[in-house]
Amino acid sequence: MNINIFENSDLGSQFVANRIGKVLAARNSVSRPTVLGLATGSTPIEVYSELIKKHRDEGLSFENVVTFNLDEYYPMEPSDIQSYYHFMHQHLFDSVDIQPDNVFIPNGKIHEHKVIKYCEQYDDKIAQVGGIDIQILGIGANGHIGFNEPGSELNSVTRLVELDEQTRKDAAATFNGIENVPTSAITMGINTILKAKEILIMAWGKRKAEIIKQCLFGEVTSTKPATFLQTHPNVSVVLDAEAASLLDLD
Ligand code: PGA
Repeated sequence: MNINIFENSDLGSQFVANRIGKVLAARNSVSRPTVLGLATGSTPIEVYSELIKKHRDEGLSFENVVTFNLDEYYPMEPSDIQSYYHFMHQHLFDSVDIQPDNVFIPNGKIHEHKVIKYCEQYDDKIAQVGGIDIQILGIGANGHIGFNEPGSELNSVTRLVELDEQTRKDAAATFNGIENVPTSAITMGINTILKAKEILIMAWGKRKAEIIKQCLFGEVTSTKPATFLQTHPNVSVVLDAEAASLLDLD
């Protein structure tokens, strides 16, 4: 994994947006689609702002971009302001020229009898468009990526999962109390994520320092799913100084 440390999260976000912008521009210039795996949460918000700026100021087009989001709460109405559907439209999609048909976000209102088939089709769709070119990730304080909570295995695929207590606590403020946080979600699996050709994982702030240290240098284990990233050949870790503060890099 190559580790990139920046003074602050704005600079780290610019680094990630620049990498996405470069790949996108190169592929646009030869009329090839770009497939992006996208994340929600506080971590990628500034990356999306930077991408919107590139669209507005530099004419970077998203017309040939296909996106797959990592996860969605379940059950969840897309129109709900806490949905990741809402988040993505608010922070990116409404401000760029992406085609609505090219946007894929797990459907939080799929009937429970159909959810297994639906998840299989989500992975099939990623494969059909040629796989994810760039996957961006945040990391949970418990080491989750997407909603692959502790216990998620290397071979896990897109599926319905139960949310970890820590994850629900972290979301409590957004939902006005832990009792309102859904107990389940649909998430891409570890296997789904690791099929991406390139992965950029970001972490900002002291709160992430300990888990970053463990996930970059600790034993690869399903109890800390982000450790599985150590097995991928093309991962860039993007940190601010605080998130990197416990790393011993000499
Ligand atoms: P955060 O969440 O970006 O809100 O810190 C990251 C995650 O849980 O994956």
